Amino acid sequence: MDGNGRWAQARGLPRLAGHRAGTENLRRVITASVEFGIQYLTIYAFSTENWGRPQDEVQGLLHIVADVIDRELDELNRQGVQLRHLGRLEKLPKNLRKKVLHAIEITKNNDRLILNIAFNYGGRDEIIYAVRRMIEDQVKPEEVTIEKVNQYLFTAGIPDPDLIIRTSGEMRTSNFLIWQAAYSEWYITPCYWPDFDKEEYRKALQAYENRDRRFGRLSFQQEGN
Ligand code: FPP
Repeated sequence: MDGNGRWAQARGLPRLAGHRAGTENLRRVITASVEFGIQYLTIYAFSTENWGRPQDEVQGLLHIVADVIDRELDELNRQGVQLRHLGRLEKLPKNLRKKVLHAIEITKNNDRLILNIAFNYGGRDEIIYAVRRMIEDQVKPEEVTIEKVNQYLFTAGIPDPDLIIRTSGEMRTSNFLIWQAAYSEWYITPCYWPDFDKEEYRKALQAYENRDRRFGRLSFQQEGN
């Protein structure tokens, strides 16, 4: 959801106004995703590093999430959206953790769109957490395969992302799905997240359609060629 702060700054507004506008845009992007027939959407909302931001911004973001769950859960459920969380829930305030777990439980049988919210998420943290749990489970060295690691990540059971869209022109991975993004296509747009509307989304999907995905092989070796 990159560019919320700059979107607000450009309008002489406080940064949290940008985060609220970004949250409203998330609503629109979810609806557009359902219309476009997207099956999995992952939103990078808060990284393990974002705790280092000023306390009033962090507290404001936690309030926005709680508020969004209260206001939007019924409608998301009605739309057939299944909510999942990527990251460490334990660091969130108890009340918010309860709300998130409730939202996951209520929507668990929906299958129109799987919406992963990465909140208190970091790719390196995810890998460390996976390795620790593999050791606890006494996984043998020869059993450590790509598939086995996948099973221990927060994204277990979810396919790798085909397309990663980064708004606001930043050209970094910023610790996002660093394992899963090995062969993802990237689309970078200067558009700030609150302005990333259905038309911008459509442009990103069209750009993706024109990509030649080779997964390290040659074009003619791909399935169907
Ligand atoms: C990135 O923009 C945005 C964030 C770090 C926070 C986004 C999270 C929310 C809006 C909370 C609500 C989330 C959900 C899923 C309901 P930035 O602040 O880095 O913008 P900048 O780069 O322009 O400063």
